[in-house]
Amino acid sequence: MNSDKPIGVFDSGIGGLTVVHALLKQLPHENIVYFGDTARVPYGPKSPQVVREYAKDDTEFLLSKNVKMIVIACNTVSAVALDVVQKLANIPVVGVIIPGAKAATSASKKKRIGVIGTVGTISSNAYANAIRQLDETIQVFSQACPLFVPLVEEGWIDHKATEMIAKEYLFPLSVEKIDTLVLGCTHYPLLKNVISNALKGTATLIDSGEATATEVMMVLDELHLKNSSREKPNLQFFVSDLPAKFTQIGERFLGSKMGVVKKVGAGRQ
Ligand code: DGL
Repeated sequence: MNSDKPIGVFDSGIGGLTVVHALLKQLPHENIVYFGDTARVPYGPKSPQVVREYAKDDTEFLLSKNVKMIVIACNTVSAVALDVVQKLANIPVVGVIIPGAKAATSASKKKRIGVIGTVGTISSNAYANAIRQLDETIQVFSQACPLFVPLVEEGWIDHKATEMIAKEYLFPLSVEKIDTLVLGCTHYPLLKNVISNALKGTATLIDSGEATATEVMMVLDELHLKNSSREKPNLQFFVSDLPAKFTQIGERFLGSKMGVVKKVGAGRQ
């Protein structure tokens, strides 16, 4: 397999760019093809059956781009459809749940971990199960925070309303005296400050995107698939709805300019 082939990354929409940001930091020479299903976002409130169907389409699109590996940036997809992607793809697949769970397990001293995410991710119990599989003595406290995604997309990062909502969502977790909190959604890294303040700085925040980038690096190393070229990497972005909003908000997520974003057809063939 050619190591200069791109890594394929997909998400329900814009949020997965936080994972691309983490990948670019840790693997600055990798070519990346990103697909954001902006026509069908959000995935978080949808049923697992529907998300599994979407995951199949998203995977097929990336496979058509001849990627060497697939990274499922979306927590909701990683939680309910990892097996769908693995079954379709004959290449390595990394989701965000297991790397996030591993990072949280090693960070927690008191063995009391909080997990926040979309309704889909939290209802699946995927993080709690993965953490308990690593260490069954750990107690996990989960909380869905559905309003965080629209608040971040609205750009209400340092907004009073966001602070109030964060306090409301996180209060039950602070009562449980968690010492570690998994940011189990692509959008939450942008709310790190608000979330940390709501918990009065008492918990270590685990960015599952960063943990995933570390895992990707390890897999590429192990399989000798790291790109040996030292050229500037080629980043390609595809979306299923018009690109204008994606480009505008996406640069906030990515932390840099994005270049051309292409729209692909519904169903993606
Ligand atoms: N990307 C989703 C996740 O990480 C959040 C946005 C959505 O609900 O689609 O779960």
